[in-house]
Amino acid sequence: MKFHGVKIEDREWIGGYTLIRYRWDGAIEPGQFAMARVAGYPVTFDPFLARPFSFYDHDGETASLLFEVRGRGTALLDDAPDRIEVSSPLGRGFRINGANGPVALLGGGIGVAPLKVLSRRLDALSVPHDVFLGFADARYAAVAGEFPGAKVATVDGSAGVQGTVLDAAPDLTRYTAVYACGPNPMLAAVKRAAGEDAFCQLSVEERMGCGNGSCNGCVVPVRDGGYVRSCIEGPVFDAEALAW
Ligand SMILES: Cc1cc2nc3c(=O)[nH]c(=O)nc-3n(C[C@H](O)[C@H](O)[C@H](O)COP(=O)(O)OP(=O)(O)OC[C@H]3O[C@@H](n4cnc5c(N)ncnc54)[C@H](O)[C@@H]3O)c2cc1C
Ligand code: FES
Repeated sequence: MKFHGVKIEDREWIGGYTLIRYRWDGAIEPGQFAMARVAGYPVTFDPFLARPFSFYDHDGETASLLFEVRGRGTALLDDAPDRIEVSSPLGRGFRINGANGPVALLGGGIGVAPLKVLSRRLDALSVPHDVFLGFADARYAAVAGEFPGAKVATVDGSAGVQGTVLDAAPDLTRYTAVYACGPNPMLAAVKRAAGEDAFCQLSVEERMGCGNGSCNGCVVPVRDGGYVRSCIEGPVFDAEALAW
């Protein structure tokens, strides 16, 4: 896997999340991801593996990652002085499939990350869309300010309606397409709410080792039996293809 050293142009903290912007003029598709680390061999093996992050935004010259500090890898990225290494773009992103709207975008927690660049793409295609975001509390929900008009839910009721992202959303069967990213239980609930005949695309957040298809650490069960690698065949799947 080839890594590119990129210079951090800008860093911002939005509620509970960190936003890093860096120069990137390559093409990306909404829902694709980057493997990122502070620096690789021969500088350090800490951490040994890069970590996967959805592209948050991309304007043709600058790409950004939005992340939550969870452990060692993200803590080091949060502190990275001026350069990081990225390998990207990776995986299969959201299919837009000619839907002329309205379409629904749903994000749970850091699952908000791929929705910004997806929303930007839908705007460019003049596809009307509604955004629904769910968070643990108001601190994390602060990032909803990046999505004008988004409806918000928080588990503790400190911002928006109390409940999960589905409590902020109307009947999903009214939409011609549904796109979602978040923890698996949320994605399964979105799949049920969208209905069996829906055009519904789900971005999964399985833990990843290599990001290039060689470790099988990121597999998800599929309806036809067996497992597929979410770093290659995903991370975005047709909801109907997933076993849950
Ligand atoms: C395709 C894809 C896109 C992602 N996009 C983003 C993004 O845009 N922003 C973001 O903040 N995170 C994203 N993630 C999750 C992110 O990769 C993990 O949070 C990160 O790898 C944690 O690394 P760490 O070294 O900080 O934590 P670790 O020390 O590796 O783990 C710390 C804790 O976080 C848990 N954890 C680690 N990875 C995951 C995961 N994938 N799902 C749930 N829990 C996990 C661990 O079980 C542990 O409890 C994405 C994951 C995938 C697969
Ligand atoms: S992360 Fe190694 S096969 Fe997907």
